[in-house]
Amino acid sequence: MSDPASPFSPVGDRHFDGLADKFAASLYGGARGELRLALLDRLLPEMLDLHDQPLLDVGGGLGQLAGWFAARGHAVTLAEPSAEMLTRARESLAGHEVKLLQAPLQALPERAPGPWPLIACHAVLEWLADPRAALATLAGLLAPGGQLSLMVFNRDALRLSNVVKGNLEKALADRLEGQGLRKRLTPIAPLTHAQVAAWSAENGLRIREVAGIRVFADYLRQPPESDADRERLLALEQRYCRLDPHWRLGRYLLYTLERPLEEASA
Ligand SMILES: C[S@@+](CC[C@H](N)C(=O)[O-])C[C@H]1O[C@@H](n2cnc3c(N)ncnc32)[C@H](O)[C@@H]1O
Repeated sequence: MSDPASPFSPVGDRHFDGLADKFAASLYGGARGELRLALLDRLLPEMLDLHDQPLLDVGGGLGQLAGWFAARGHAVTLAEPSAEMLTRARESLAGHEVKLLQAPLQALPERAPGPWPLIACHAVLEWLADPRAALATLAGLLAPGGQLSLMVFNRDALRLSNVVKGNLEKALADRLEGQGLRKRLTPIAPLTHAQVAAWSAENGLRIREVAGIRVFADYLRQPPESDADRERLLALEQRYCRLDPHWRLGRYLLYTLERPLEEASA
């Protein structure tokens, strides 16, 4: 039985009921959210082969990504367990033909089995009790030759930003993850590139592309104040987001994972 007073789902995931306002204001309401969307707008067509395939958006939140794909002609299904987020997604997606499904990732093999040629799962795994099992589930939903656009909150970047902010004790103790309580937006399971690489290999997924989202912005002593400086920052992010070593310290890591075609004949 789930405890109605607990913010966690029965399996220990942090669904965003009770967090929608805070999430909308602090992640998308400001310059960082704008930067993330501007970077994705450039990166998604570069990193994915897009030709109007149907898309399953897992943990689709407020619906920005679903709207982006729908506007480009994809038939989109947005799956999201939080009723509160889904209500907002419905409002923001009015005018787009997006199918909304109230379901957690774990239920999708039954509720939306596909197999899907294209799946997006952005900023979700870090809110789950078992992100490794979740990646296996996503891999199972992909068609042979299918692509998964996976974005995860980067644990190594979280360490650096804590040090930059002077949270030395916390960084030294490696107490980086959040508790998922109250309205805090520090994820409960920030991930490393090494974990994503190992778990992808475990599930027969090939890492075809990788980029860092906000490789500089979150470490600035002062946010840019003028439009000209904001444009310079975007240009810097765009120039370095796929280059070593910079992508490795992006606040988020964005991957294109591919399920090879050969599996079909094996
Ligand atoms: C940080 S938000 C990301 C939303 C959206 N994908 C984006 O990039 O803006 C995390 C979302 O994951 C959802 N979530 C939490 N547990 C989940 C689960 N088990 N399956 C699917 N989504 C889940 C939350 O309700 C929330 O909407």
